[in-house]
This record gives sequence, structure tokens and C-alpha cells, in this order.
Amino acid sequence: MLFPEYRPRRMRRTEALRRMIRETALSPDDFILPLFAVEGKDVRNPIPSMPGHFQQSIDHLLTCVQDAADQSIPAVILFGLPDKKDPLGTRAYAKDGIVQKAVRAVKERFPEMVVITDVCLCQYTDHGHCGVLDGREIDNDGSLDLLARTALSHAQAGADMVAPSDMMDGRVAEIRALLDDNSFSQIPIMAYSAKYCSAFYGPFREAADSAPQFGDRRTYQMDPANAQEAIREATMDVEEGADIIMVKPALPYLDIISRLREEIDLPLAAYNVSGEFSMIKAAAQMGWVDEERVMMESLTAIKRAGADMILTYFAVEAARLLNR
Ligand code: PBG
Repeated sequence: MLFPEYRPRRMRRTEALRRMIRETALSPDDFILPLFAVEGKDVRNPIPSMPGHFQQSIDHLLTCVQDAADQSIPAVILFGLPDKKDPLGTRAYAKDGIVQKAVRAVKERFPEMVVITDVCLCQYTDHGHCGVLDGREIDNDGSLDLLARTALSHAQAGADMVAPSDMMDGRVAEIRALLDDNSFSQIPIMAYSAKYCSAFYGPFREAADSAPQFGDRRTYQMDPANAQEAIREATMDVEEGADIIMVKPALPYLDIISRLREEIDLPLAAYNVSGEFSMIKAAAQMGWVDEERVMMESLTAIKRAGADMILTYFAVEAARLLNR
């Protein structure tokens, strides 16, 4: 098909024609809204680098879940800021921990909402690493039991799905086994399989107060230069029992999303992380880009690359536009 017989512009002439050949459609069903829970009542601390997002006590958090439900968003993912931190991150797997309480409150008010929990130790350890320490090294195998106990405590509180983000080797199998032993074989695991060591998490670490106190996360999160390794990581997680695999961040890693879509036959999630959100917000505040259009174009690109679901701080705003 060559010009002038074929003219691609013919099918772009009107909006109705463009709609007919559009290959990717976003829907509120695609979105998962991340929320940050803190102890206390009537707490609503704005996160400066993430306009519209807050560290909030459960009473206010419920309002955000209501906003998500009003826009037909099917799921939220909860992060917690504990009242105290220690070397073993004990508040991560405490029955009365902040996430456990938030899960109970959300499920009581919104039984239909899918409540996912982030499973990691970094918000709960005083050193800020995602596993426990052995000297100044992160102890992989010594962290597995604590991560599994965290996931179990979330399931016991009523979570519908657990999402390990720590990047320790073998954590999916350990979590699957402990859940199954405790009659939670129906609870799916969304594995942060290809989680890169990314500077795009900067605003989140402020939001979740989870920056490492020494060193960085390069010994457990993936090197941004690697793509083949993402396939190995995802394949391992599938073999260990993951139900959904995730790529994180999203926009700088669209090639990884697209490759995993080809290679792995499981639902695929992408995390449109804090830095991706903050950059758009900041440029829009400067008047340098059209926020709505850049937001929708970014989310469409993530879905076009192959993601079945998108964890995004834009969830409510984008769903509102789609529902208009
Ligand atoms: C915790 C965790 C992080 C994010 C999700 N879970 C931060 C990190 O690994 O440092 C990042 C989310 C975001 O930037 O939006 N391990």
C-alpha cells in the first residue's frame, strides 16, 4: 500500500473516524489508587511534591477511597507510616499496625473495593532498608519470614491482595507458602517483579518517610540498564506463585512492559511512580505543559505498551475525565 493509493490521513479526518480505529482505550477499571495512612485522627498532611496527595489518618483516607469508588476505580493500594520504627520493622507485621487498621476500616466501609497492601519493611525499619540488616549488608534470607508475616497480617486484617515490593530473592514463594498454610490460598500476590533502582521514587520516599539512612537500594533493586534480567525476575516470580507481575517505574520502562507482555502470560501491572507524577504536576504548575493532556497521553502510553492495570497517583483525576 503506497501513496497515493493509500493515504493514512483518510482515517484521521474526523473524530468519529479516529475513534473507530483507536487501538487503546483507557478505563477507570485500569487504575489502582495509592494512599498513605498515618496514625491519629483528623491528620491530613499535604505531600508538597505530590499535589493532591496526603499523609492522612484513616478518617480522611476513607474520603479518598470514597472518591475512588465514586469514579468506579476498582482498587486502592495502601502504604503505612508507622508510629515508631526499629531495626526489625516490627510495626510492619503488628496486628494493630497502621496498614492493618486501615485495611479493616476500608473493608468495613467499602466491602466491594479491592484493597491491596504494599508488603515491604522500608517504612518500618529505622535504617530505611527493605530488608533487615546483617552488619551493613541487607540479609536476604533473614528478611523473608518477616515479609511473609507482614503479608499474612495484611490478609488477616482483610486485604484482598498483597504486593511485595522489597525485591528480596524468594519472597513470593515464602509469602505464598505462609498464606496457604493459614487458609489464605485465595489471596493473590501482585509481585513487583521488575522493580528498578530508580531516582523516580524520590517524592514517594518523602511521602512515606522511607529513604535509606545509609547506602542505597542497588543491591536489591534492579539496574536500570538491564532488560533480560527483568524476564528472569518475572519468570522466577511466576514460578514462585505470583498472580500478577509488575514493572516499576512505568514511563521510562515502556520497553520492559512491552517485553514482559510478550514473554509472560499473566496479568501485567505498571507503577506510574511518584517522580513521574511530580514532574507532570510541576511542569503544569509552571504553565509549561497541558496537564490533562500529558496525563492522559502518559497513561495511554503505559497501557499501549501492554499494561493491564496502572498504579497511579492520577487515578481519580484521570477517571473523572474518562467518566465525564
Ligand atoms: C517501598 C516502595 C517504594 C515505592 C513503592 N513501594 C519506594 C522504594 O522502593 O524506595 C515507590 C512508589 C513511588 O515512587 O511512587 N519499597
